[in-house]
Amino acid sequence: MQVDDLTVAYQQRTAVRGVSFEIERGEIFGLLGPNGAGKTSTLSAIEGLVKPRSGQVLVDGVDARKNPLDTKARLGVQLQTSSFQPELSIEQIARLYGGLYGVRLTRDRIADSLQAIGLEEDRGKRFKQLSGGQQQRLALHIATIHDPLLLLLDEPTAGLDPQSRRGLWRRIEQLRGEGSSILLTTHSMEEAQAVCDRVAIIDHGTLLTLGTPADLIAKHQNDPRVLEVAHGAVTLEDVFIGLTGSEIRD
Ligand SMILES: Nc1ncnc2c1ncn2[C@@H]1O[C@H](COP(=O)(O)OP(=O)(O)OP(=O)(O)O)[C@@H](O)[C@H]1O
Ligand SMILES: [Mg+2]
Repeated sequence: MQVDDLTVAYQQRTAVRGVSFEIERGEIFGLLGPNGAGKTSTLSAIEGLVKPRSGQVLVDGVDARKNPLDTKARLGVQLQTSSFQPELSIEQIARLYGGLYGVRLTRDRIADSLQAIGLEEDRGKRFKQLSGGQQQRLALHIATIHDPLLLLLDEPTAGLDPQSRRGLWRRIEQLRGEGSSILLTTHSMEEAQAVCDRVAIIDHGTLLTLGTPADLIAKHQNDPRVLEVAHGAVTLEDVFIGLTGSEIRD
């Protein structure tokens, strides 16, 4: 997947300014940035949910805007807040989306996949009866039901307990092993370091730096803004705060 010089604007407000990056096959790529930095807007443009003001998105070499249907069939998407039909059960939701994506779902296959996300016993529960973490686990399951080439996850582990978070890490590492590319956003530096092969830090719509977590520490550890916020050995979080500032965003 390749993003070239992407700019996204909502009326007067420019949310993404000329962002470019590439994600390899079999790579987990993390997009980090403070609140309002432009992460969701970047993902929305890749997903085709907002029309970029300029720039290009290539998925598997195919221009996403010229071939929206081809592209969407290759994408798996988990939005920052997911919602499904509140009255449908987990099993009904799995069948509905499986059907939409043309995936053949046998009873066994549904049982296995719900087992894998710890929802097998709750398969008859309605969506509205699920806890926040259960809803999120279901959203990831639905996003990956068709083995997408590119998986886009917007803060997929926000609000998950440590067990579920590890479960999600395992699942995306498994997908990576099968050759999928994963683009995720997170506010957890620990998560970025644990699972992302490479990360980019974005702020005010501009991409500030990009590399492996270790690269970013090596590259910025002598930056005075980073040294000023570090407590001892420089961490990825020190780099993040050094480059994006200590101000809280509105
Ligand atoms: N639909 C919209 N209309 C107008 N402005 C928007 C819209 N969506 C986002 N914005 C603005 O664009 C900027 C980037 O927002 P975006 O949602 O991409 O940030 P983010 O990095 O995902 O933040 P967070 O970490 O809080 O999810 C913000 O200033 C936001 O207020
Ligand atoms: Mg967001």
